[in-house]
Amino acid sequence: MDFPLFHLDFMGNRLLVALIAILHVVINHSLAVGFAPLVTFLEFRGYQKKQVNPEEGAAWDETARKLLFTAFIITTTVGALTGVGIWFAASLANPASLGSLIRVFYFAWFTEWIIFVLEVVFIMIYFLTWKRSNENPKRKRKHILFGLWLSIFSWLTMAIIVAILGFMMDPGSWINHKTLFSGFTNPIYFPQLIFRTPIAMMMAGCIALLITAYILKRGHPYRPGLLKNLSFWILLWTPVAAAGAFIYYWFIPRSMIGNLPVALGTQQFQDWYDSLLTVMIVVVSIGFAVSILGTFAPRRLPKHLLFIPVVASILFLGTFERLREFIRKPYVIGDYMYANGILVEEYPLYQQTGLLKNSPYSSVSEITDANRLKAGEEVFNLACTRCHTTHGVNSVVNRFERMYGTENPLNVEAMKAYMKSMHNVRYYMPPFPGNDKELDALAWYIQHQQAEPEPLEGPQIKGVDVKEIKY
Ligand code: HEC
Repeated sequence: MDFPLFHLDFMGNRLLVALIAILHVVINHSLAVGFAPLVTFLEFRGYQKKQVNPEEGAAWDETARKLLFTAFIITTTVGALTGVGIWFAASLANPASLGSLIRVFYFAWFTEWIIFVLEVVFIMIYFLTWKRSNENPKRKRKHILFGLWLSIFSWLTMAIIVAILGFMMDPGSWINHKTLFSGFTNPIYFPQLIFRTPIAMMMAGCIALLITAYILKRGHPYRPGLLKNLSFWILLWTPVAAAGAFIYYWFIPRSMIGNLPVALGTQQFQDWYDSLLTVMIVVVSIGFAVSILGTFAPRRLPKHLLFIPVVASILFLGTFERLREFIRKPYVIGDYMYANGILVEEYPLYQQTGLLKNSPYSSVSEITDANRLKAGEEVFNLACTRCHTTHGVNSVVNRFERMYGTENPLNVEAMKAYMKSMHNVRYYMPPFPGNDKELDALAWYIQHQQAEPEPLEGPQIKGVDVKEIKY
């Protein structure tokens, strides 16, 4: 393990990454990938209507501009910051995995960065030139073309990043070929893209419908027409999103089931799958119900009700993201690197010669009676803190107490026996990466943490000790 490990002992590192990532995905999919084509479509329809009824055309145009304004403010602030934030947070939480991903996807990331910068430039131009584009039809046509480019570039940034997400779940033939191309075309890439694209369109429709229902007063002459078109947009994308979700859902077991070693794991996997299916059916039904009502009777659409599809589609995406995270475990990069940042191929070395000895940022190398607790802390830090804290979220003490009860102090021998084979019973955890002495030190450390709770400070607070490693 070649890096010092940032650690948040109350909220845990996982939660930090998850919060930033989920916020980003929701904003990116709905307000960038989905909104750009939706706003362009509305602007185009406004342009068409202007030929027949200038007043109606202007109302459509102004609504599209207001929708873009919302998306512009949110995507260029919270959206852009959380987008960068994901990689900062992830490289703190798991530096080894980000290191590997950058080596594989260097040029993909580089390209994505350029496209992202262009996307920001396009959205600036698109938004800031909107009013002037109404001066004459030629300008308007050019402006609509900008909207089209913005849509393509927004989609492309997502299409590149999704390759990295798919790769982390299942690197496919990269394990043998180790090329950017083989990593990019991993087995989950296309299914995931097929799922994310229509979901983004559907979410954008739901949010635009909600905003439009609020910004245009009841009785506004063109309100029903706009609501009708937006509902129709949702109605068109909902079945595509359902089909995309199904394809993704179908491909995950294809490539993952084989990785799951034990029946118990499969059981939990099944539970997740069942809940996902329920969420899928509920959300698709809500999408259909609202969009059919909106398409055929837009005047009857109660605006408060329109929060429901927005919340439901966010839940839908959130459930998928959680499933994706869940089934990736115990790996951070399928079959290649465990979630604790240790390579699968390094395991035999560490289990034989010791994890601490091979970790430059651990102050302890040889375990003695005098340094046992300190050594246990270092082992805990390296082997467990990517997912557990001492007493905060997913507390390791609490996990053991739930298994063994709190009547007696935690038993060192029982914990050792459990940890030695924990990956067989709870397949989402990597095997213990050290030798027997380290296992012993870890068990003593956990017992000590139960008796005298003491927060574990990350290196960002207490600094790091570096030692030289003799090979
Ligand atoms: C890849 C992330 C990850 C790593 C690394 C990890 N765990 Fe876990 N562990 C989990 C998750 C997730 C749970 C389940 C939490 C829940 O039930 O909600 C869990 C549960 C547990 C449980 C309770 C198991 C049960 O049967 O209820 C124990 C004990 C435990 N972990 C100990 C450890 C120890 C000790 C280490 C380090 C050697 C470790 N874990 C490393 C993710 C991890």
